[in-house]
Amino acid sequence: MKLRTLILGCLALTAASAMADELVKIQTDNVDLILKVKDDGRLTQAYLGKTLRDTNDLGWLEDGREAYITHGPEVYFEPALDVIHADGNPSSFLRHTSHATTSPKAGVQETVITLEDQKEPLTVRLHYVAYTRENVIKTWTEIVNRQKKPIQLKKFASSMLHFYRPAYYLTQFNGDWINEAQMTTLPLAFGKKVLESNLGSRADMFASPQFILSLSQPATETSGDVLLGQLGWTGNFRFTFEVDREGWLRVISGINNEFSERTLQPGETFQTADFFFTLSSAGLEKASHDLHDWARRHQVKDGMGDRMTLLNNWEATYFDFNEDKLVGLMDDAVRLGVDMFLLDDGWFGNKYPRSNDDAALGDWQETAGKLPNGVGRLCDAAREKGIKFGIWIEPEMVSQRSELFEKHRDWVLMFPNRDPQEFRNQLTLDLSNPKVQDFVFGVVDGLMTKYPEIAFFKWDCNSPIMNPYSPYLKDHQTHLYVDYVRGLYSVLERIKAKYPELPMMMCAGGSGRIDYKGLEYFTEFWASDDTDPAERLFIQYGYSFFYPSKTICAHVTTWNKLASVKFRTDVASMGKLGFDIKLSDMTADDIAYAREAVRNYNRLKPVILDGDLYRLVAPYQSTHAASAYVSKDKGHAVLFTFDIQPRAVEHRHNVVLRGLDSNRRYRIQEINLMPGQDTWVKNRSYSGDYLMNIGLDLFTGNKLNSRVVELIAE
Ligand code: GLA
Repeated sequence: MKLRTLILGCLALTAASAMADELVKIQTDNVDLILKVKDDGRLTQAYLGKTLRDTNDLGWLEDGREAYITHGPEVYFEPALDVIHADGNPSSFLRHTSHATTSPKAGVQETVITLEDQKEPLTVRLHYVAYTRENVIKTWTEIVNRQKKPIQLKKFASSMLHFYRPAYYLTQFNGDWINEAQMTTLPLAFGKKVLESNLGSRADMFASPQFILSLSQPATETSGDVLLGQLGWTGNFRFTFEVDREGWLRVISGINNEFSERTLQPGETFQTADFFFTLSSAGLEKASHDLHDWARRHQVKDGMGDRMTLLNNWEATYFDFNEDKLVGLMDDAVRLGVDMFLLDDGWFGNKYPRSNDDAALGDWQETAGKLPNGVGRLCDAAREKGIKFGIWIEPEMVSQRSELFEKHRDWVLMFPNRDPQEFRNQLTLDLSNPKVQDFVFGVVDGLMTKYPEIAFFKWDCNSPIMNPYSPYLKDHQTHLYVDYVRGLYSVLERIKAKYPELPMMMCAGGSGRIDYKGLEYFTEFWASDDTDPAERLFIQYGYSFFYPSKTICAHVTTWNKLASVKFRTDVASMGKLGFDIKLSDMTADDIAYAREAVRNYNRLKPVILDGDLYRLVAPYQSTHAASAYVSKDKGHAVLFTFDIQPRAVEHRHNVVLRGLDSNRRYRIQEINLMPGQDTWVKNRSYSGDYLMNIGLDLFTGNKLNSRVVELIAE
């Protein structure tokens, strides 16, 4: 073969131009997304599902639906893209011009498909990153204005996916403060179902930017075709699920375009948010395992690293503390055996000291009356006691009673000529303004520069954007919601670049803000201010579908005193364990128990934080709940069982395990026992086969009762 022909052949492999019915394959170990380039250049989604093993069948694939539908050719249903061109033409007809696949690192393949409008100078690039082993696909879109004048983007989805199945079941995660991630499943029928947020900063207060879509029938943990999808965007999101008259479902995911029409200048490229999804043909468990593995390996800040246990002072003191009280609490932390003391809200402000939540946000200097020797003395005390020191901030916010507000009203989101509306007595700073970004970066950087021993930040965000008007953006107000989030990312990027090892908790009055793009910058998130352990079983269960346990912060507090400290701690031990309680609120037995539970947790971290989660009994299905964590080599497992509100007369079934090796024997031992508590679950050994077929009689008829059982392969 001549060299020229060879070179041309190679080029064609990586950058194929439009040919009749060419297939573009985005593949992971278990999932195929196959797009078809029609001979007229249209791009369709020919297949999305379990990997097709025999490539001889690919020729039989139907066209399917247009992959990224625009307004113009499609006027019946909602499009992914809606552009008003510079000449006022509101239609876009996209045609494939090229595509290319590269491998940025082992196990990761990126495909970029370029589409162009037939008449208007507009380029759209669809990006797909396939994580081969983890079966996760990340997808986003770039929209390029090649016109001589600005164009208007009315809709700009990250992704559009199509399904054609006999039935669809959507599980959504919604709620409110102290009631996050509540799950509801509903069938989808003709018409539209929209899940969205318009809240701006604390964007996920009412709904999480994620969903579960069961195809054909409701998926179970171990069966069914199911897609788990999430928008990586720490702001307003929108998912549209629309079933048409033929029974096709389209799923459009992206930044919420409501109040967010964008003007795109000549030569400018708009990049959408990332949409992440995984598809499992073996039910929810497999989908969660894949997502958790992907999150740890590829997405979360320090995803493979360890996590620190801690004692937080928020519920122990609220705003009422001084240096002595905090140092006393550090002694509690030492007695519990946790790694860190976390100082919460209330340490800052001098002209307007923060003695409650109506002042001082923005004035990030220690209150002299409370901390005469500053944070430095607290760092010293922590070091002397052999623990780490962490600190709470809420740097995107400002109180009207603050020096920052007096000095920089122009940095605050407020409508001109109107009194600002507050949420929790505070307002949101204008993060679209680079000067404000510098200020917010400076809150972390200033503290770290002065006190390099600070080992952890809890970054809170208690208010939605209540007054969506940016003094900085002037006549581009519809850019605010997107530019706010971009401003936030630019700050977080600078922090991550300068402090790559610094662990940070993402918090927003509980989990009013949590998504996987945010977790690129945070090691963990605060799942809820609701620490009633019975409620936490539901909240943590909800988040467990998407997030690995090492990211889900769970603290022991005094909420629900009907539940024992043991029950509260056992629930919290399924996530990233912490305490937010004074030892004076605990009995001597409780303290002895808690110390032992922390020791066990430290020993079992590799299993709980990095193993595979098996949701054995869902709190939604029963008056009980059970989950197990199994190490990747199946040699070690921890089983948590809970009796929440058992009925007086009920049929109690064994807890049947999954994920063990049926051919090995496991020695089982109940751990996290109260001093003097007896158990039959002691030093017995069972085969994996027995445990996964017959299971163990661990549930009881006692209310708010819990058991933790360790299994070690012999
Ligand atoms: C939010 C957080 C709490 C606590 C308070 C402090 O509500 O979720 O954990 O930090 O703020 O004001």
